[in-house]
Amino acid sequence: MAAPRLAMGLMSGTSADGIDAVVLRITPDGAMAVVAHHFLPYPDSLRNALLDFGNEEHRISARDMAAMDARVGALYAEAALALSAQCAEAQRVEVIGMHGQTVCHTPPDNSTQIGNPAQLLTALGRPVVADFRRADMALGGQGAPLAPLFHQAAFAAPDHWRAVVNLGGIANISWLPPQGGGALHGYDTGPANGLIDAWFNRHRGAPGYDHDGTWARTGTVLPTLLDAWQRDPFFRQPPPKSTGRGSFHLERLFALGAPEPDDEPADVQRTLLELTVRSVAQAIEDSAVTPERILLCGGGAYNGFLVERLSTVLAPATVLRTSDVGVAPEQVEAAAMAWLALRRLDGLPGAAASVTGARRDAVSGALYAPPV
Ligand SMILES: Nc1ncnc2c1ncn2[C@@H]1O[C@H](COP(=O)(O)OP(=O)(O)O)[C@@H](O)[C@H]1O
Ligand SMILES: [Mg+2]
Repeated sequence: MAAPRLAMGLMSGTSADGIDAVVLRITPDGAMAVVAHHFLPYPDSLRNALLDFGNEEHRISARDMAAMDARVGALYAEAALALSAQCAEAQRVEVIGMHGQTVCHTPPDNSTQIGNPAQLLTALGRPVVADFRRADMALGGQGAPLAPLFHQAAFAAPDHWRAVVNLGGIANISWLPPQGGGALHGYDTGPANGLIDAWFNRHRGAPGYDHDGTWARTGTVLPTLLDAWQRDPFFRQPPPKSTGRGSFHLERLFALGAPEPDDEPADVQRTLLELTVRSVAQAIEDSAVTPERILLCGGGAYNGFLVERLSTVLAPATVLRTSDVGVAPEQVEAAAMAWLALRRLDGLPGAAASVTGARRDAVSGALYAPPV
């Protein structure tokens, strides 16, 4: 029997919390397993600087941007080396997929990730694939979301539709058709942890997050605010669509509807959480297909109150975490990078035109190969 394939994947999303790194093993029958995981949190100073990019008023010099590219590249290498130290199989990976840190996502024109891939190549001596979004964009696509083909390969069921909802800084949804029935599709639904974290940090001390949604749970939804926020045109825009921190940050949201000075901060937090719940529910409602199971991943899958609300609103669909089908929520997007890197090596598409709206499926990612 052929040997299993091994790849490493590294991901840091719009929450700017840090880098998730995994080793993914794929057996010849296509079964996938994450065999090791390491999370390297960003230092507070870097996290704050990256979060500042969300503010379109923010101006940064080319020199500072270049310094940040090297700093993020060094942290990617550090995360990969730490993973290698804890897992013998990490030294035998065929390839490493690195997402990099998005600093600007303005589809359909551009999506920029920083983090110098050559630093990872030099540190690990293995081929690195990076820059996964721009081939799709050159073909007229959104360059996002990136994970749906992986979600399909990892989580599709033979006999029923499933949906995967990734609750990162931004939320995205993938609909996974059963065998022989329908097309893979998906898009960004709007905000998730990004806004929830930002309000928490403003009122509860930065940087951190509302553990398990405990603080939001104490609040009450403010209906006027929720109505105003739901009027953001992104929610009504038909797919293909994607978004980022540049569109969903507190200042922009508050321009649609600002909290009154005597509104309780906990009530605003509760309302921000509800905005995520409603936008995901709207996406499911708008879809022509009804998923039987909805799998949650991303850090938001650890927000017990968010999961509880989604389970209530999405009933009768069964809401599960991806850990219930074999991959821990915080490992899914990093595993997608490992899988996408293998696709690039094999010359196979990594971005689905049915998701991104590109003219055709794109073989995505730039290869940085040894020797160096
Ligand atoms: N135990 C938890 N309770 C509540 N929220 C959590 C928990 N763990 C993680 N999160 C949320 O998940 C976020 C990180 O999610 P992640 O999937 O890494 O997003 P991204 O892909 O944007 O980096 C954190 O910023 C936090 O908001
Ligand atoms: Mg993250």
